[in-house]
Amino acid sequence: MDKMKIEIVLDVYNNIQELTEADQLLLQSARSITSIAYAPYSHFLVGAAAVLNNGEIIKGTNQENASYPVGICAERALLASTANLYPDVPIVSMAIAYHNLNGSSNKPVSPCGMCRQALSEFENRTNQHIRLLLSGMEGEVFIVEKSSELLPLSFGKKDLHNKL
Ligand code: THU
Repeated sequence: MDKMKIEIVLDVYNNIQELTEADQLLLQSARSITSIAYAPYSHFLVGAAAVLNNGEIIKGTNQENASYPVGICAERALLASTANLYPDVPIVSMAIAYHNLNGSSNKPVSPCGMCRQALSEFENRTNQHIRLLLSGMEGEVFIVEKSSELLPLSFGKKDLHNKL
């Protein structure tokens, strides 16, 4: 019997000022767009902003629904917009921020499991890793160089076609 150990490494910054100018702008966009999130049920407003290989900036917010499972996270809203507006254009970096109207917003949160799966598929289809910047409205910023690091042992296209 063997054991396998899987580790992830994050860069931890104390605040937005420690980031490069480009990263600061992207995170500011994510923070700012939380204001148009539609989250009347959770009051947890999430904003995402991504820069693509072609230089375009795409944004997304969570969109909830009275039928709760119908709601969509900011990250997947952004991925769908990106794929529709710019098919096959990879994402360089995505900043994700949240404004918790029920509490504080000063610790980074990371994408939910469903969004990790969606990010993994997007990375695979565009053949490029997505860099993630995670933060609240203030305070620490986590940077993950490849979003797929957040989904070890992921299930993907390779598994469905493993007989080919
Ligand atoms: N949410 C996101 O949009 N992204 C995340 O990474 C975590 C959760 C949304 C889903 C729901 O509308 C609200 O936040 C509370 O879970």
